[in-house]
Amino acid sequence: MKHTITLILGDGIGPEVTAAVVTVLERSGLDVEWDAHLAGAASLERHGDTLPVPLLDSIKRNKIALKGPLTTPVGSGFTSVNVGLRKALDLFVNLRPVSSVPSITSRYEGVDLVIVRENTEDLYAGLEHEVVPGVVESLKIITSVASTRVARFAFDYAREHGRARVTAVHKANIMKLSDGLFLESVRNVAAKYPDITCDDRIVDAACMHLVMDPTQFDVLLLPNLYGDIVSDLCAGLVGGLGVVPAANLGTDIGVFEAVHGSAPDIAGQNVANPMALLLSAVLMLRHIGEGTIADRIVSALGQVLSEGRVRTRDLGGSATTSAFADAIARKAVAA
Ligand code: NAI
Repeated sequence: MKHTITLILGDGIGPEVTAAVVTVLERSGLDVEWDAHLAGAASLERHGDTLPVPLLDSIKRNKIALKGPLTTPVGSGFTSVNVGLRKALDLFVNLRPVSSVPSITSRYEGVDLVIVRENTEDLYAGLEHEVVPGVVESLKIITSVASTRVARFAFDYAREHGRARVTAVHKANIMKLSDGLFLESVRNVAAKYPDITCDDRIVDAACMHLVMDPTQFDVLLLPNLYGDIVSDLCAGLVGGLGVVPAANLGTDIGVFEAVHGSAPDIAGQNVANPMALLLSAVLMLRHIGEGTIADRIVSALGQVLSEGRVRTRDLGGSATTSAFADAIARKAVAA
């Protein structure tokens, strides 16, 4: 089946890592037409807008996008392009599977957990104002509607992926109303999934437990801010931002992107690691029913990493972005 997928090239290292991933996907046999668009800083320069309407229309039409990292221009008046995209398309879930990668040295082995982060509200609502000079107020918005729908997603995900437990992470002992509502919403949803165990941890304790023994966790369900922080912590458990994929999901739209940013310090040098975006593309392939190609790419990546000859600089090698992609593509080529 031919797929039409919106492609956001991204800023900084974005064009390099997206080109690498496109190469691997096409050479692995994905039948695809790319609907390429600019966003972020590149789009601001060309179209005067960081999130142009034709891009949003393209994603709404195609339902699927592969996205390179975007630079949020520095200066007042620019809210985060990534937060803007999630809001504009109501991508209410940020999904990050975090697993140990064989052949990549990290602090732990056997980590296999999934972060489900609410993506639209909490302190990211961006409602801040100065009450009087020297005093600012930032509003933390938690609603039962958003908490319930992300909780439903987490329990459905657990059921579909054979996972036994969902752990809600919160600070309801202090923020009794806001985090209390999140926790209550999760518990109401959990009651409808008797086959999945539901428990909860206070966010500070959860961080300590993650660092002590991350293998004790299965699915973690968090409001936006804790989800943002804890998911980077979890990336650090398995080798860092370069090896962790992510998906932003709405009711019928999926935007798949790496967790890392546009890395301006190494942009244009052909040294960035495309692995995180490639693993995000693997999530995308499974989402669109191309599991066979996804499996082939995962296996090819595993072989290249375990052979150890072709690795990018951040993984201890000296291969370029394109050489790393080429090595994976050669092994993932469709029979
Ligand atoms: P960053 O993730 O771009 O870079 C942090 C460090 O990691 C840098 O030393 C960079 O060279 C390295 N790094 C990142 N990705 C890499 C890769 N694939 N291979 C090898 N090394 C890599 O974070 P930073 O510098 O805080 O942000 C730069 C820009 O990216 C900012 O404008 C920020 O707003 C944006 N950003 C965008 C995101 C997105 O589009 N989802 C997420 C995070 C940041």
